[in-house]
Amino acid sequence: MVILGIETSCDETAAAVVRNGKEILSSVVASQVAIHAPYGGVVPELASRKHLEYIIPVIESALRKAECDREDLDAIAVTQGPGLVGALLVGLSGAKAMAMALGKPLIAVNHLEGHIQAAFLGAEGPVGTFVCLVVSGGHTALYRVGPDGRGELLGATRDDAAGEAFDKVAKLLEIGYPGGIVIDGLSARGNPEAIRFPRSRFEKDSLEFSFSGLKTAAANYVRQNGLPGSPGSGNSAGCSLEDFAASFQEAIVDVLVEKTLRAARQCGLEEIAAVGGVAANSRLRKRLGEEAAAAGCRLHLPPIRFCTDNAVMIAAAGYRVWERSGFTPDFLGLDAFSR
Ligand code: KG4
Ligand code: ZN
Repeated sequence: MVILGIETSCDETAAAVVRNGKEILSSVVASQVAIHAPYGGVVPELASRKHLEYIIPVIESALRKAECDREDLDAIAVTQGPGLVGALLVGLSGAKAMAMALGKPLIAVNHLEGHIQAAFLGAEGPVGTFVCLVVSGGHTALYRVGPDGRGELLGATRDDAAGEAFDKVAKLLEIGYPGGIVIDGLSARGNPEAIRFPRSRFEKDSLEFSFSGLKTAAANYVRQNGLPGSPGSGNSAGCSLEDFAASFQEAIVDVLVEKTLRAARQCGLEEIAAVGGVAANSRLRKRLGEEAAAAGCRLHLPPIRFCTDNAVMIAAAGYRVWERSGFTPDFLGLDAFSR
């Protein structure tokens, strides 16, 4: 079963060809980072326009790299939501048009199920039911994922997603976009204990998250002490940008690691995965590795290129959806959804 995956939910235009949900024949991602960077975040209208410009060349490139003709495809899998509706509609309309013109079936995929399927794209995927931390720019949640690939929600963020917190604080620090990757890089040279940022934990068995308090604490710190690492701006605490970044990152990572392991304990599961853009974070990967090992759990982390948005995960999820419930009927009437 050869599936073309298409992903346009946010600011990456992506297409991939995957056989049987596992064998990657090609993966193409056209990033719009440079376009949104001056605004410090994704501008939805610009994202839609760029998807429109990139979608056909990206699909053609994925087919070419896979040495696959359109006629060789068995189905087209596409992200239906959640995401930016205008952005989603470009991929969805493209997929519908292609499926109709070629007489091929379509499989509508939930973006989060796509991220979860990325857990299987590492060296060894989970073999049984596992706890999955989905942590991206739009989502922070824990799922219990069964053998059919479906996730049962265990807990989610009450406010901001972890990636959103990274991006907003990077904007506050004026260090570039997307913030997560910049903060990750700076943190490698910083002291994570320099500033004690707050950790929202809720009740002792809670699997929910909250990052808005942390974001406010970071903003208050800058208001009181000035921007870190820039003596001219009057940082009275003498804190470097690296120390600020490492301390901020540690506050996020602490909570993510703690709650993921708690979820595994509560569910009595020994397999853990972390997926989504923030799962690319080097500190999170290291700490999860250490603490999963200490708890006797097996950890599954996708390669970094499959943590951030890509179409391999959409084709892989499309295969699982098809196994479970077949192709999407009456796909021409399908609408994108934001949440
Ligand atoms: O999964 P993704 O590409 O898009 C969404 O579905 O949201 O995730 C993007 C998010 C951004 O917030 C970005 O700052 C964050 O992932 N991110 C990281 C790293 N790389 C990307 N956050 C922390 N450390 C990283 N290395
Ligand atoms: Zn995503």
